[in-house]
Amino acid sequence: MTGARNSKLAVYPGTFDPLTSGHVDILERSLALFDRVIVAIATNPAKTPLFTLEERQDFIREALGENTDRVQLDHNEGLLVDYCTRVGATTIVRGLRALADFEYEFQLAHMNRRLAPNIDTVFFMTDERNHYVSSSLVKEVASFGGDVSGLVPPAVALALADKYKGNKSK
Ligand code: COA
Repeated sequence: MTGARNSKLAVYPGTFDPLTSGHVDILERSLALFDRVIVAIATNPAKTPLFTLEERQDFIREALGENTDRVQLDHNEGLLVDYCTRVGATTIVRGLRALADFEYEFQLAHMNRRLAPNIDTVFFMTDERNHYVSSSLVKEVASFGGDVSGLVPPAVALALADKYKGNKSK
């Protein structure tokens, strides 16, 4: 093999509504395997986000810390595999928490491979501290005034408290 090693690029897609500590863990671990990771806020037709695209991007930007040079933020409204082809990525990163995630992720990965056989999905097992965390559960707890610190980055905890501040008096 001659010349420099090809730079390894992965796309980490999700709704990230909002970013959780579980997402941050997956992103950090993917940076150990890949030279560059594009975090792509994608459209999941089954979800109506609480936070705007800009808010979700800001959460990710704030959580990145020193990793900013190897992480790119983007968004995508169309098919994920078309986006990957456009940016030249052949790997999709996803996190797997419990068995419950498996069936859904299995379907997504197979459908994506059917649509684009050259694009593969790599799964990271979620850290045991985050295996029960989900964006929906965090929103639910926050909506009732519960403490979500530690489950989400500090900026997300503040934004959730702000979004739901009217609920506390109900
Ligand atoms: N730790 C904790 N929680 C985690 C986690 C981790 N490591 N990894 C995922 N989660 C949680 C999230 O909090 C989220 O919880 P929620 O369902 O309560 O919101 C859930 O697991 C997964 O959400 P997220 O990671 O934000 O992604 P998603 O499943 O919404 O993303 C897309 C799905 C966007 C990738 C998919 O819909 C897509 O590809 N859309 C583009 C259109 C397309 O190509 N469709 C065809 C696909 S075959």
